[in-house]
Amino acid sequence: MPSAKPSFHTRICPYGGEAIAEAATLIIAGEVVAVPTETVYGLAGDATNGASVAAIYTAKGRPSFNPLIVHVPDVAAAERIAVFGEAARALAATHWPGPLTLVLPLRSDSGIASLVTAGLSTIAIRVPAHPAMQALLKACGRPLAAPSANASGSISPTRAAHVASSLDGRIPMIIDAGACAVGLESTIVAVGEDGTLRLLRPGPIDLGLSLETGGHIEAPGQLASHYAPTKPLRLNAVTAAPDEWLIGFGEVVGNATLSSSSDLTEAAANLFDLLHQADASPRAKIAVAPVPGDGLGLAINDRLSRAAS
Ligand code: TXA
Ligand code: MG
Repeated sequence: MPSAKPSFHTRICPYGGEAIAEAATLIIAGEVVAVPTETVYGLAGDATNGASVAAIYTAKGRPSFNPLIVHVPDVAAAERIAVFGEAARALAATHWPGPLTLVLPLRSDSGIASLVTAGLSTIAIRVPAHPAMQALLKACGRPLAAPSANASGSISPTRAAHVASSLDGRIPMIIDAGACAVGLESTIVAVGEDGTLRLLRPGPIDLGLSLETGGHIEAPGQLASHYAPTKPLRLNAVTAAPDEWLIGFGEVVGNATLSSSSDLTEAAANLFDLLHQADASPRAKIAVAPVPGDGLGLAINDRLSRAAS
């Protein structure tokens, strides 16, 4: 939440060979760059360089106990960092590249900066599908730590403009490849040594697991008020009060709609963009139409209930 006027502006560069080469040079020099993934825009830094990882935390204003997701280009690179059992291998084979993050034991020879895992003996890792992030991983030749590219606690960015509104003047560069296709952060699953799976964050990939409640917070994304707009938000609204900007779904039209055809995939892709629009609207409050809880609706309702609390 930058308060002072930035002393420079972040450059927004269209995705292409030139932007990737420049971003890789910045990252290898220890800087951080915003880059699209299929889920949300990430703020990428060299996961093997503690100073680079620290720059991610600084730009986001993120509490340093909050560990980051590491991105790698393929399963082979992931296996050099984390310990894979049979269950993890099967999940990776089915869902990578894609929006699934696995929490696995960290290898002692991983080379990952300890700040990435915030001292945990496990690491969150995924192989992203977006060509821009894939190109950046290959150009850098090292694993990239990348949380969502927004100031800590605010709405995740699904467009370059969202990143700029949150981090302008705090990072040198944003690679712009338009809106993210999925629009919701990856599903996070912890894989136990015995192959048991625990859902830490619901997301685009539904493995039929239910979200753990109670117990200690392992993924700070589980914190109740993690994805908060600045305005109060009311859920399950069918009509809007005069001071509310209504986000519609299905038959509830609203000021803008997640999906007029009640399509949950379309709704997920639009969710954060509409929360940004609602936050920027002249109305003091936000209301959101009911969204069914099945399939992707579980992850959408998870983000909405956090945004409301
Ligand atoms: O889709 C995504 O996952 C996006 C894109 C950029 O890849 N990234 C993302 O990262 O959402 P972030 O940092 O905003 O969320 C990471 C989540 C946090 O809730 C964090 O606590 C959890 O992953 N996490 C990281 N390492 C963990 C670990 N070792 N054990 C449990 N949770 C972990
Ligand atoms: Mg985030």
